[in-house]
Amino acid sequence: MKGLILSGGRGTRLRPITFTSAKQLIPVANKPILFYGIEALVESGIREIGIVVGDTGQEIKDAVGDGSQFGAAVTYIEQPAPLGLAHAVLISEAFISGEPFVMYLGDNLIRERLAPLVETFRAAAPNAQILLARVPNPQQFGVAELAGGRVVRLVEKPKKPASDLALVGVYMFDRDVFDAVSAISPSARGELEITDAIQWLIDHGRTVIPHVIDGWWKDTGKLEDLLEANRIILDTIGRRIEGEVEGSEVLGKVVIEVGAKVVQSTVRGPAVIGKGAMIENAYIGPFTAVGDHAIIRSSEVEHSIILEGSTITDIGGRIESSLIGRNVSIYRSTTKPKSYNLMLGDRSQVGLP
Ligand code: DAU
Repeated sequence: MKGLILSGGRGTRLRPITFTSAKQLIPVANKPILFYGIEALVESGIREIGIVVGDTGQEIKDAVGDGSQFGAAVTYIEQPAPLGLAHAVLISEAFISGEPFVMYLGDNLIRERLAPLVETFRAAAPNAQILLARVPNPQQFGVAELAGGRVVRLVEKPKKPASDLALVGVYMFDRDVFDAVSAISPSARGELEITDAIQWLIDHGRTVIPHVIDGWWKDTGKLEDLLEANRIILDTIGRRIEGEVEGSEVLGKVVIEVGAKVVQSTVRGPAVIGKGAMIENAYIGPFTAVGDHAIIRSSEVEHSIILEGSTITDIGGRIESSLIGRNVSIYRSTTKPKSYNLMLGDRSQVGLP
């Protein structure tokens, strides 16, 4: 069995971060989202993994390499434009070469282990197996309608959803999916939808079995979901202090990576402080991930993701529920007149008190 991870597309809802960087590489608890997917596939026994990439392909290749760091062999499949999830499958036919496969959306995070689901798929040998989760906002997902335990209808982002069962971004297919993705036409948003391809399988008498997951699942396409994923994953980490702590209080589940320094500060877990980061005279509150080589000095940060190389110095007040990109600098300006001096990328969002 092979794995196919979709890591192309455009992260429009996470701009400006995704103007310069792949959304699948944004770290959650200091680990790129994409790595969780690769690890989940490897843990379920899948080692041959294809990764579909688009404009941000180089950055993804630099991070993942040949896959050996995960115990996997990775092949990259270039998608010329984000023409849809089913289009990504269509262009991966040569790589899949007739084997059954797990398709994993590179911006999804799933708690449930894949191994038992892969086992069910192998044993029952349906044409497709889909994962579903109950959500409060089904309009934002593909939605499934079940009858007598079977999938009868799937609709992509319906205005009036027939159920609260959203399609989770993990699918299992046999070779018949290639008949489906070749037969369907683009949707109203101009994409070849995997939802339509699965509907095609149902309409053509193929077997599609549903599995409703129990654990949490996040599509990290939006800031609030990303912060929530960060919160949930940080909550599962233990305590590991490899950096230096001096005159500080470090409470609860906290990881301080090697080379990091925490001086005259309070770190209240769950939190992670990346390699070579510097926390000085500062407060790092629960559910915060501070990236490698970031500097937080005389400032307070809570429930936030600070990417590598950023510096936060002397700010009054507390940064909360925020995503700060790479090499950002936030500081108190000392020059007169007292004013906000901003240099923000397109689509930045700043909430001032
Ligand atoms: O997260 C689950 C949802 O994912 C499902 O409920 C929907 O049925 C499914 O269509 C999908 O919806 P999204 O609109 O959230 O998909 P998104 O455009 O975010 O793409 C998902 C991943 O696939 C993301 O890592 C980017 C990648 N991708 C996307 C497209 C459109 C590609 O690699 N190529 C593409 O052409």
